[in-house]
Amino acid sequence: MKPLEGFEKPRFPKISVVGAGQVGTAICAMLLVRNITKYVVVLDVNYELAKAEALDFQHGSVFMGDPRIVPCGDGSHAIDSDVIIITAGARPSDKDRSRLTVMHKTVEILKDVVPKMVKLSPKAIYIVVSNPADVMTYAVQQIGKLPKHRCFTTGCHLDSVRFRNFIARRFQLPPSQVEGYVIGEHGSSAVPVWSSVSIGGIRLSHVVKDLACGDDPENWSEINEQVITGGLSVAKTKGYTNWAVALTCADIVQALCGGKGKIASVGTDMKGLYGFKESVVLSLPCLVTSGGISHVFQLPLTDVEKGKLQASADTLMEAQCSLKL
Ligand code: 2OP
Repeated sequence: MKPLEGFEKPRFPKISVVGAGQVGTAICAMLLVRNITKYVVVLDVNYELAKAEALDFQHGSVFMGDPRIVPCGDGSHAIDSDVIIITAGARPSDKDRSRLTVMHKTVEILKDVVPKMVKLSPKAIYIVVSNPADVMTYAVQQIGKLPKHRCFTTGCHLDSVRFRNFIARRFQLPPSQVEGYVIGEHGSSAVPVWSSVSIGGIRLSHVVKDLACGDDPENWSEINEQVITGGLSVAKTKGYTNWAVALTCADIVQALCGGKGKIASVGTDMKGLYGFKESVVLSLPCLVTSGGISHVFQLPLTDVEKGKLQASADTLMEAQCSLKL
């Protein structure tokens, strides 16, 4: 083959996934199978694991449009990535599954990983999936000195699709026909925004009296608990969740790289919005587009929803302040 002078290979978005565990490899799979990218770096401190996962994908690459899948152990192949997805983190031990313990161990891992990644890809967009996702995003922003529009978490985008799914089941409708947001913490203080729910453009709160308030006869509020425990209810049987979070992450990457934006409840530092005077990473409806988060939407909230969002912010600020960065 003779190279033709002047030819420049088109640049596909280069996406590096840090952490080749259940979540990281599921995200790689969704990015590849959904044809969102043709260039994935599978990064893990355990290079042999990264190599095995990459090889497994490579064997099937003919079915995915012949993508380039590269294993990496030290981060060197992640240089000049367009998007870096961070899934690395400590696993809860059987004797101590507390979030706080996991959180501090994961921060130590991020303190090692993030500076290396930022040095190699200073202009990349960083998506943080490691749990607790909001607090870990705050940690990555601080450790990597990354701007809030380019360092965020999938956060409550996952909770929002669970919310839509549970509502759709009640009507025996496809979840795509239900709109609605969950905001705040991707965790136990998440806030399902019932006043935002619409089905085929019809506002549910206009049809159902006392929707999800304490005494609504149809007990819509049981869905609040289903949303908050959605991940736990899967993890208690299979030990982890990976498919829903991977699909959620791939959807966000599609919005970043696919040439058209998307409004999704993702999490970043919302200081200065909704009356937050201090830095706090939590999810609100944002416009995600090439370059990262371009806008945050001012979602109309009921007084109850505003109070729950403030409580979520207080919980997250307390956790953020406990970090040793
Ligand atoms: C979940 O809720 C992993 O936090 C993620 O499934």
